[in-house]
Amino acid sequence: MDISKIPIQNRKDEHIVLVSTENVESHDSTWLEHVRFVHNTLPELDLDDINLSCEFLGKSLSAPIIIGAMTGGTELTKKINVSLAKAAQKYRIPMMVGSQRVIIRHPETKESFSAVRKCAPDVPIVGNIGMAQVANSDKFEYIEEIINNINANALAIHLNVIQELVQPEGDKAFSGTLDKIAELKDQIDIPIVIKETGCGISKEIAKKLFNIGIKYIDVAGVGGTSWIAVEYYRAKKHDIKVNMDFGELFWDWGIPTAASIIEVNYASNGYTDRKIIGSGGIRNGIDIAKTIRIGADYAALARPFLMAALEGQGSIDNFIDKIIGELRITMLLTGSKSIEELKKSPIVISSSLKGWLKERKVDFKRL
Ligand SMILES: Cc1cc2nc3c(=O)[nH]c(=O)nc-3n(C[C@H](O)[C@H](O)[C@H](O)COP(=O)(O)O)c2cc1C
Repeated sequence: MDISKIPIQNRKDEHIVLVSTENVESHDSTWLEHVRFVHNTLPELDLDDINLSCEFLGKSLSAPIIIGAMTGGTELTKKINVSLAKAAQKYRIPMMVGSQRVIIRHPETKESFSAVRKCAPDVPIVGNIGMAQVANSDKFEYIEEIINNINANALAIHLNVIQELVQPEGDKAFSGTLDKIAELKDQIDIPIVIKETGCGISKEIAKKLFNIGIKYIDVAGVGGTSWIAVEYYRAKKHDIKVNMDFGELFWDWGIPTAASIIEVNYASNGYTDRKIIGSGGIRNGIDIAKTIRIGADYAALARPFLMAALEGQGSIDNFIDKIIGELRITMLLTGSKSIEELKKSPIVISSSLKGWLKERKVDFKRL
């Protein structure tokens, strides 16, 4: 797909163009480089012995890999969603759709999301709505429509305070969000996933969420796509100097992904059935293995899937084959036959990540 030839219809298409053509990655890393596996030189395993299977939202998966929330709402994004959904179905991995807010005002865009369920009838599909819509609504009358639109297995509520603050048209009122999330949780019969969008989640916030009964948290920490960077480029294009300055200043704001996963995992201590999705800058099979080793149950990747989708269906398949192959090799090299064994393989945590955990009084020795 030649992105330069696609007419920009609205903000969602503009995001796709900016994310795929500009350098929108954070300058800071995920800090996963401060986690090292201890090499197992005698694993006593065959590559074919490695079993990546696991379960998510009551469905079995071929690997603990999720296609991250990105898009929908336009013709271009429908095409992207369809390609990603076909791959999700083929590889038996879940997919999160992008914000479905648009269907509330523009019902004609519904098909750009429902096409995902049509192409991926058997895998978990996660719906998506922003915290601002949840915080500012009285009865959530639109929620049923959003869930039914894709026959969602769970609903993600994305936390994106910083992005809303930078966007000239963004929401600025966030008070009462936690109570609203709790209210919404009691109204729907599918689980809620609370997800960040690139700034990470701390142990304090995770605890508040676990306390109101939230069972799924997607950390989306610093180290991958920076939404502030995306908004910087939007402001640059529209020549809004104040927002460019803001974007430059807050480009790397947040908690690195590795630190966030360990914090949220630490906060989950004492609760049952809590599941953590590690995301934000996960780019290969070693990243996925580390993410799981330090406390996540699944790893989600967004931008790499977008880039592959823009290249074509074959590129998505190649990318999934590649990361699954890398994950299998990492598991063999750590002597881990299953995801459960991987979660216990020896690691060493060093440098900034070690310092962070010490300062934050997070007992990483338990890992
Ligand atoms: C093009 C694009 C669109 C996105 N749109 C959404 C969205 O609508 N809702 C959401 O929760 N997150 C959205 N995200 C954030 C991702 O789900 C993810 O949290 C973030 O990009 C970090 O992951 P990455 O480094 O693998 O890209 C979007 C990301 C990209 C790249």
